[in-house]
Amino acid sequence: MEITLQSPLDMHLHLRDGDMMKLVAPLSSDFAGAVVMPNLVPPVTTVAALEAYRGRVLQAMQSCPFTPLMTLFFTPLGEKELEHALSTPGFFGMKLYPAGITTNSEGGISNLAEAERTLKLMEEMGIPLLVHGESHGFVLDRETEFLNTYRQLAMRYPKLRISMEHITTAAAVSLLDEFENLCATVTLQHLLITLDDVAGGLLQPHLFCKPIAKRPEDRDALLQAALDGHPRLMFGSDSAPHPRSKKEACGCAAGVFTAPVALPVLASLFARHGALDKLQAFVSDNARALYGIRATDRTITLRDEPSSLPVPSCYRSYGCEVVPMYAGATLPWSIVR
Ligand code: NCD
Ligand code: ZN
Repeated sequence: MEITLQSPLDMHLHLRDGDMMKLVAPLSSDFAGAVVMPNLVPPVTTVAALEAYRGRVLQAMQSCPFTPLMTLFFTPLGEKELEHALSTPGFFGMKLYPAGITTNSEGGISNLAEAERTLKLMEEMGIPLLVHGESHGFVLDRETEFLNTYRQLAMRYPKLRISMEHITTAAAVSLLDEFENLCATVTLQHLLITLDDVAGGLLQPHLFCKPIAKRPEDRDALLQAALDGHPRLMFGSDSAPHPRSKKEACGCAAGVFTAPVALPVLASLFARHGALDKLQAFVSDNARALYGIRATDRTITLRDEPSSLPVPSCYRSYGCEVVPMYAGATLPWSIVR
């Protein structure tokens, strides 16, 4: 079996910066483009910082035809600043983090009232809003507790395109069908694992991320929606590399590094469920239709043949070391080079 994908997109990606970016960026280059997250230290809050970061991303991608879709870390911006952003090449949207909810989000929003004026302007100007949707409640309930906020946003700003980033629950999948202006991304790991895989046996730090993986019925609902080709569900890996020393540590950093395995694992997952024909929608067409994205034209072919080499047990360069999901495993599908 074989599938050729047209211009796959990763709609939620952490490329980091500096040496770590030099190491990980080329590992996403089988994608035609990606929505690049702004949670650097300090976060990307200004158009000038976004332009400079985009330049560094393009450089780290070397000569790959890759389209970085850049996001600004949400702060309450006025009309002039938003207009400036809109006219900036590569600007995609604003990513809103509740303050302190995940890696490098301390400068996020603690009260949505602070965001109202900016959200209204974004709605009028057609700027997408991407949201890390978790409350500060009990870890397993954080996403469901946030769903009411999504509801309020969807009702209050009916023309605003709101993306529920990295959804992890059946309840979030149901919410998608309540409001036309909501869409969502889902990661690789949340289509595959549950909390049991993270903490049911020996603790697996490389599977620990925010939001934490949930119950089997949640995973199944996410997977079913993806396999059905739900038109407002998109692949967003949330590939989030951390140095090995920060993962295999007391106080493990949150994030699963999936960039190097994402496409072969998705192909084998969709094939196993007899849904390969829906993969194109999930990894590209839905995002293009929702946002009118014009990314580089690329094709990539995947085949149900294990690659001759297992997934590296870690990637090491420029003084950085990072462990991918499926480290050391042989994947049943591979990219045809
Ligand atoms: C992400 C990171 O490390 O930047 N971590 C994660 O667990 N997903 C941040 C995020 O998207 O929440
Ligand atoms: Zn993320």
